Amino acid sequence: MLTSELRAKFLDYFDKNDHEVVDSSPLIPANDDTLLFTNAGMVQFKDVFLGSEKRPYKRATTTQRCIRAGGKHNDLENVGYTLRHHTFFEMLGNFSFGDYFKEEAIKLAWNFLTNELNLDKERLWISVFREDDEAAEIWSSIIGIGPERIVRLDEEDNFWSMGETGPCGPCSEIYYDHGEQYEGTPPGSPGDEGDRFVEIWNLVFMQFNRDANGELTPLPKPSVDTGMGLERVAAVMQGVNSNYETDLFRNLIKASEEVIKSPGEASHKVIADHIRSVSFLIADGITPSNEGRGYVLRRIMRRGIRHGYKLGAKEPFLYSLVESLVREMESAFPMLASNQKQIEEIIHNEEKKFLETLDKGIEILEKEISNMDSKVIPGDVVFKLHDTFGFPFDLTADIAREQDLKLDEAGFNKCMEEQVKNSKSASKFKGTRLDLSSIDETKFLGYDRLNAEGKILGLWNDDLRVDSVSDDKEYFLALDQTPFYAESGGQVGDQGTFSCSSGSGQILDCIKQGKISLHTIKIDEGAVKLGDKLKLAVEPDKRAAAASNHSATHLMHAALKHVLGSHVEQKGSLVDASKLRFDFSHPKAVTKDEIKQIELLVNQHTLNNAEVKTELMKLDDAIASGAEAMFGEKYDDEVRVLSMSDGFSVELCGGTHVTRTGDIGMFIILSESSVSSGVRRIEAVTGSMAVELAFEIRSQLQVVQGILNVGASQVGSKVEDLVKENKSLKKGSKTSGKSKVDLKEIIHKINNFDLVLIEADTQNIQDLRQLVDSSKKGQSERCILILSHQDSKVVMVCGVTDDIQESLSANDVIQAIAKASNGKGGGRKDFAQGACTADNLEVFVNSIPDIVQSIA
Ligand code: ALA
Repeated sequence: MLTSELRAKFLDYFDKNDHEVVDSSPLIPANDDTLLFTNAGMVQFKDVFLGSEKRPYKRATTTQRCIRAGGKHNDLENVGYTLRHHTFFEMLGNFSFGDYFKEEAIKLAWNFLTNELNLDKERLWISVFREDDEAAEIWSSIIGIGPERIVRLDEEDNFWSMGETGPCGPCSEIYYDHGEQYEGTPPGSPGDEGDRFVEIWNLVFMQFNRDANGELTPLPKPSVDTGMGLERVAAVMQGVNSNYETDLFRNLIKASEEVIKSPGEASHKVIADHIRSVSFLIADGITPSNEGRGYVLRRIMRRGIRHGYKLGAKEPFLYSLVESLVREMESAFPMLASNQKQIEEIIHNEEKKFLETLDKGIEILEKEISNMDSKVIPGDVVFKLHDTFGFPFDLTADIAREQDLKLDEAGFNKCMEEQVKNSKSASKFKGTRLDLSSIDETKFLGYDRLNAEGKILGLWNDDLRVDSVSDDKEYFLALDQTPFYAESGGQVGDQGTFSCSSGSGQILDCIKQGKISLHTIKIDEGAVKLGDKLKLAVEPDKRAAAASNHSATHLMHAALKHVLGSHVEQKGSLVDASKLRFDFSHPKAVTKDEIKQIELLVNQHTLNNAEVKTELMKLDDAIASGAEAMFGEKYDDEVRVLSMSDGFSVELCGGTHVTRTGDIGMFIILSESSVSSGVRRIEAVTGSMAVELAFEIRSQLQVVQGILNVGASQVGSKVEDLVKENKSLKKGSKTSGKSKVDLKEIIHKINNFDLVLIEADTQNIQDLRQLVDSSKKGQSERCILILSHQDSKVVMVCGVTDDIQESLSANDVIQAIAKASNGKGGGRKDFAQGACTADNLEVFVNSIPDIVQSIA
């Protein structure tokens, strides 16, 4: 039986047994940051188990794409070393949401295996949770399995949970005995890790929710979650012991062998496995990066690339296997075909990039290994491979394992911690610092000039050092000198252009790592390489706007002290070409009047057009002279002291500024707000931005004046009158009008009709009746039940569409519900009303479908 036939047979079987066939959900769990990836079929149903989401079915079946790499369930390291571990696999599952429980779940599974698939009963073994007598009894008395083939196991094996938190419960696993020719002993006995007894299906009896403290609380209703590994059962059905010998994997391995053209069983297996996880992750929207899910993707890709390299693939190859994968799996997952181009492109780019450093890294590692006396590769070597050559930790571990070596993980972690500590601008590199060894400090020329020449000292493609770059992606570049200001002191980095005889492009940003400026560049034409001399030009307008905002920040800082008091202390700032933002200590909101005074004071100093002076001073002298310094900021021994408007503002500052205060033009505060307790934030604009804002405000005012037909000075009082009038009109209409009805709908399928439950927030019968009528309009085969809950009193109305009134009467529905919940009511076939008591609306609502079912 082909893998695809098995998949179809499973879904078809559960479909026939009244399960809704539901699509696989994406690999990225929706609204669930407790999980890195979807790692089981139940993930998309988590909230249904917990009772916080309702679906119009109580039984479901899926084939779910799953990743088990990098999270709680992590199989990455095992791939290539075992016959049936995968980073990506398909989990076939059937689910009951408060419908059937243990007995039915066990019967369904047993029937599928022994009747639909015709597996030999004598080869099936069962494990149950240590304390689960009920499950053990079902297996022995109802199914008839002998006690010698039922084993009881502990939490570790037979209590399943999705992650650290979430739905969980005891489980029962079904094992298949591949036969004596394979090593291995029965489940639960020593040696059960062999290849003879293989777990094929896990039936989880979902009963609890585990919270962050590890506490278990019962789920609203006992439920069932099962998971059967498609690949494992395909192996059983095809009479092979290894998943990699099934049709799907054989074809992928063949494709890998054809591209790489050299044998190597384990590596081809790794590649066949990894091309699946990598392609599905990309199809689900993940791209390689240095953190989170993107880093797991990168790790899997680089591991695959390294295995190809080991077999001699010195050129990109992995991307070309996507085509075979699409062929194998597109019928079940059409998203693979529709994303094929993009998947290939992303893999190809990663391969090109990693191959640039892979051989150098391998060379260094091999040299290190040959000089080692011990069996442990030192942490700093592993770190260097990670930091400079882009070798994820587990990639080095994989190479080490092939040679029976281990890694000094603690030493590696120490180097990583050290790096994070030293890295203030690490966030720019998404957690990775660039390797800057042998790069000199950058000389900054930009205080006096916007154009200059600089020689390329270093180039990086993401975190990897390269000798030259040519395509239009973003790279990092370091120069011996530059007019580009690198982001610091709250001022953003400059933007601009570069050119040399071999190419030209843009500089998108400039940041600092230590004393080295790193330019983010994008090539427009040609290429650049180490040693090239670049002509550099900072974009003058953006720089001038940023300088104006920065200088205005200093003036505003001084003005804040004047207006609010000397307690004002800078807590943070951000200055770019569009605006300035300044955080400062102040115990309460700044009043409108104070804002006006601050604006006036700053504008007075810009109108003065006073000189802006900079002086280089010893740090101690600067502090002694009263210059403002940021508490906790690290300054060099020699500092720049910036004074404006005859000492109105004196601050230590390495930023770029206007030459006279008049260059600021105009200053307007946009907003004042709270950042945290005792810290306020002001945002403001200067120069042409401020002028534009003033014009905009005036034209808006003119529009309002036109509508109200009043002069500018009367706009305020006129609007106030209108708001008052509007309020009183609304009040009047509320008392005479209808109450708002809040619609929350749940639909249940019962026999030939839909039971529609609607929660309303009014108990006014007229409103509820109208709502029933409008919900019935144009509909057929519907029973609509509208409920409104206040304290413990529930008011309900029911409407039934004409076409089903012969088999279901609204009167019967209301009477049956009322009877079950201490209430009364009645009416006609088409409409009835009633009231009853319910302390817990959710429990009450959950009981209704069964009641309606019982009279339908
Ligand atoms: N959720 C269960 C598992 O993954 C079925 O094993």
